[in-house]
Amino acid sequence: MTRTIGILGSGQLGRMIALSAASLGMRAHIFAPDAATSPAGDVAYKTTTAAYDDEVALEAFAKSIDGVTSEFENVPSASLAILARHLPIVSPSIKALDTAQDRLSEKNMARSLGIATPDFWQIDSQSDLESALGHLNGKGVLKTRRDGYDGKGQMRVESGDDARAIYAEMGGKPLILESFVDFTCEASFLVARDGAGKICHFPAALNHHEAGILAHSTAPADLEDALITKGQEAVAAIASHLDLYGILAMESFIGTNGEIIFNEIAPRPHNSFHWSIEGLDCSQFEQLARIVGGLPMRTPSLRGGANSIWRMENLLGQHGPQIPTLQAQDDVSTHLYGKSEFRDGRKIGHITYQLFDSDDKSYKVV
Ligand SMILES: Nc1ncnc2c1ncn2[C@@H]1O[C@H](COP(=O)(O)OP(=O)(O)OP(=O)(O)O)[C@@H](O)[C@H]1O
Ligand SMILES: [Mg+2]
Repeated sequence: MTRTIGILGSGQLGRMIALSAASLGMRAHIFAPDAATSPAGDVAYKTTTAAYDDEVALEAFAKSIDGVTSEFENVPSASLAILARHLPIVSPSIKALDTAQDRLSEKNMARSLGIATPDFWQIDSQSDLESALGHLNGKGVLKTRRDGYDGKGQMRVESGDDARAIYAEMGGKPLILESFVDFTCEASFLVARDGAGKICHFPAALNHHEAGILAHSTAPADLEDALITKGQEAVAAIASHLDLYGILAMESFIGTNGEIIFNEIAPRPHNSFHWSIEGLDCSQFEQLARIVGGLPMRTPSLRGGANSIWRMENLLGQHGPQIPTLQAQDDVSTHLYGKSEFRDGRKIGHITYQLFDSDDKSYKVV
């Protein structure tokens, strides 16, 4: 019997999970408010176009699939709870979604597990902000607790700034103020965890952001072994704490004293691991499709030899004109997401290539 995995969400992550599922001989059924014509819907066996809180549609969806995952963390966890009544495999877990939807919950969790975070303050009013700005010693980042991505819903602030003007600009939403981390680099760690609680690590990635958006990732991360081990221990502790069923990435800063400082988690495939499609013999998407489809996990190993280095660069709307040139290059793999329009600053695809000289800092996308 052909197995069918359900995916909540219709974007590029769902698309790449669906493509991996197909390679494994499985089908993907996409559930989203815009499922029918979407990056994921375009490559799926079936789509359900419905709101995430449509109980009737969720019940019918559950009956048509063998396991489910969510390609983005802002699906209401109540929807996952409805699906859990009918399905043995519900990924990434209700606790993982609930925690990852709120930057404050994420940071409280990290702290409770003994993982270092920037200083942070919960901001629910202008006076909260006033007092937090008083404690902030220097620069900070003010963020909405929910719904931010690609640096949206964030603002750089400084102690002494005018709380009234800033609070008005952030629109009265629940906020978190974080101290600004003076980092040497940013690293992400990805872990997979199956239903039996078995953990599998992926090689870490080093990430470079431009204008708040991930520009490129390089992996395996050129960091000391002890640091990699520490990051892996942290992400594994988080995965266990959240009863993770699937995959989860932890974004972190590497501080000036070489310490790992937690930034945020994403309980789903992560942009900084897209290189794993070419760079590993089991990509993050395959691993997730395996877990959700009831197949055993694989231990991913690096393609191109133990010393190979892979780079992924994001293609944004403004890079559209470069696509034909990139697609003509022998040493570049180009992935396009089938987005209906190429908007500036929005991700439309990515490229992956092997770096043969680790000093090579020239990017193919400029
Ligand atoms: N406290 C901080 N100190 C220094 N830099 C920060 C801090 N918070 C965020 N940044 C910078 O902004 C980037 C985006 O922030 P964050 O990960 O919180 O937002 P996001 O909108 O979820 O981004 P993405 O969708 O790319 O993960 C970080 O990767 C980092 O480069
Ligand atoms: Mg981030």
